[in-house]
Amino acid sequence: MSITTGDFRQRITVQSLAEKKLKHEPIVSLTAYDFATARIADEAGVDFILVGDSLAQVVLGYANTLPVTMDEMVHHTRIVRRGVRHAFLVADMPFGAYHTGIRKALENAVRFVKEGGAEAVKIEGGSSRVPLVRRMIDAEIPVVGHIGLTPQSVHRMGGYKVQGKTMEAIDTLLRDAVALDQAGVAALVLEGIPREVAIRITAEVATPTIGIGAGPDCDGQILVFHDLVGLTFTPPAKFVRRYCNAGELITGAIQAYRDDVRSGAFPADAESYHLPREKPVLTEAVETAALQRK
Ligand code: KIV
Repeated sequence: MSITTGDFRQRITVQSLAEKKLKHEPIVSLTAYDFATARIADEAGVDFILVGDSLAQVVLGYANTLPVTMDEMVHHTRIVRRGVRHAFLVADMPFGAYHTGIRKALENAVRFVKEGGAEAVKIEGGSSRVPLVRRMIDAEIPVVGHIGLTPQSVHRMGGYKVQGKTMEAIDTLLRDAVALDQAGVAALVLEGIPREVAIRITAEVATPTIGIGAGPDCDGQILVFHDLVGLTFTPPAKFVRRYCNAGELITGAIQAYRDDVRSGAFPADAESYHLPREKPVLTEAVETAALQRK
């Protein structure tokens, strides 16, 4: 059986992510929520695609990530799966999907693999998640950890605030990172923490760290697709770099279409179908009927 996808790029796996850390090859990561953007990201060379629960905000229009459901996340994971051929595909477990007991969490994780085609699931939280991580790995499901600014803890944190700014908080983050690493996470997302803390964690753990708002020294970086292309409606966070303004481009395209429809410039004759030339009688009959109806 071939381990390649039939073209020149190999599939990214848990093992190749680990190798990238050892070889100091940055892991390029991005979120995706639908077929077209997943396909584009995959073909552009992204290594790690996350169907993030940020879906709640950037696609579904909620104020935070908390309302998105398992069914919605599985649905979008299945869609993204069809567009991904090379990247490692991770599904984000939404709020409530792993907070009410290990059995329920395992059942939900299995859904992501079986119904969604994910290769791993991501859960937020530190040392308290270790028993769950171990059970998931026992069930053959790779797990990605996520510590620091964990958006599902928005109410406990009192807003989206950079974490790890006191000695005590830094110690807790380090202990959490080491505990998750020892439990066997396939990667660890570090969100919203000082660069210095991310450097320390990245050096201490064997698993690759993927940063978002954690400085440039992590083993990889992740951004939310809509932030990267400028498809959001609120000012971006400090860590976001917008690589294009898709919102403006799309608005321009839709306005041009609007004007063309209103002026009659769209569609042109070349964009229309015609009756066969060899049947002029048919054309004449249709035109006469149209004139009579006017
Ligand atoms: O849901 C998401 O998009 C995430 C990333 C920001 C890491 O969890």
